[in-house]
Amino acid sequence: MSEKGRKVVVFIAMSVDGYIAKPNGDIGFLSVVELNGEDYGYSDFMKTIDTVIIGRKTYDQVMEMGYDYPYQDKEVYILSRSERPEVGLPKYFKGSLKGLVDELKANPGKNIFCDGGADVINALLQENLIDEFVISVIPVILGEGIPLFKDGRPENQLKLIQSKQFVKGLVQLHYERIPTDQ
Ligand SMILES: NC(=O)c1ccc[n+]([C@@H]2O[C@H](COP(=O)([O-])OP(=O)(O)OC[C@H]3O[C@@H](n4cnc5c(N)ncnc54)[C@H](OP(=O)(O)O)[C@@H]3O)[C@@H](O)[C@H]2O)c1
Repeated sequence: MSEKGRKVVVFIAMSVDGYIAKPNGDIGFLSVVELNGEDYGYSDFMKTIDTVIIGRKTYDQVMEMGYDYPYQDKEVYILSRSERPEVGLPKYFKGSLKGLVDELKANPGKNIFCDGGADVINALLQENLIDEFVISVIPVILGEGIPLFKDGRPENQLKLIQSKQFVKGLVQLHYERIPTDQ
C-alpha cells in the first residue's frame, strides 16, 4: 500500500449520548447489542490493519478481560507517559504522536487502528492525525461516563463513507476526515 493510502482509523462504540464507558471504565452497555454470529464488522476491519495504537488504560482493561490476545500479528504501540522498558514487547511509547504516525505512514503497510480510549483519540485529534472514524452508536443513554470527544479539538469536516443499521439497533457510521492541513 502506498504512503498516501495508509490511514489511521478509529473503530469504536459509543452510547447515543457520546460515552465510550461509564466513569469507572465499565463497558457493560455494549452487551445490549450482543448477538450470536454478529461482530459488527470487527473481524473484517482487523484484516485491514497491521498496527494498533492504544492507550495504556484501554490496553490494561483488554488484558484483564481474559480474552484471547486480540492483536496477534499486529504491531502494538501502548501509549503511556510513565517509565517503561524501551526494548522488548509490548512496545510502550511516549514520544511525539505526529512523529510516530509520520514514521508509520512512511513505511508500507496496512491501516493503523487507533483502539482508544478517549484520551488517546483526543491526543491524535489535536494534531489532525485521525483519517477515518467508524463509530458504532449503541442504543442506550448512559447519562455519564468517559466522553468520546473532549472539547478543544480542531474543527473538521467529515465525509460520510457509509452508514449501516443492525437489528439490535446499533447504527454504524463510517466517516473520513476531509484534510484541512493540505
Ligand atoms: N466503547 C469502546 O468501543 C471503547 C474502546 C476503547 C476503550 N474504551 C474504554 O475507554 C476507557 C479508557 O479510556 P481513557 O480515555 O480513560 O484512557 P486511554 O486513552 O485508554 O488511556 C489513557 C492513558 O494513555 C496514556 N496516554 C494518553 N495520551 C498519551 C500521550 N499523548 N502520550 C503518551 N501516553 C498517553 C496515559 O497512560 P499512563 O497513565 O500510563 O501515562 C493515559 O493515562 C476504558 O474504560 C475502555 O474500556 C471503550
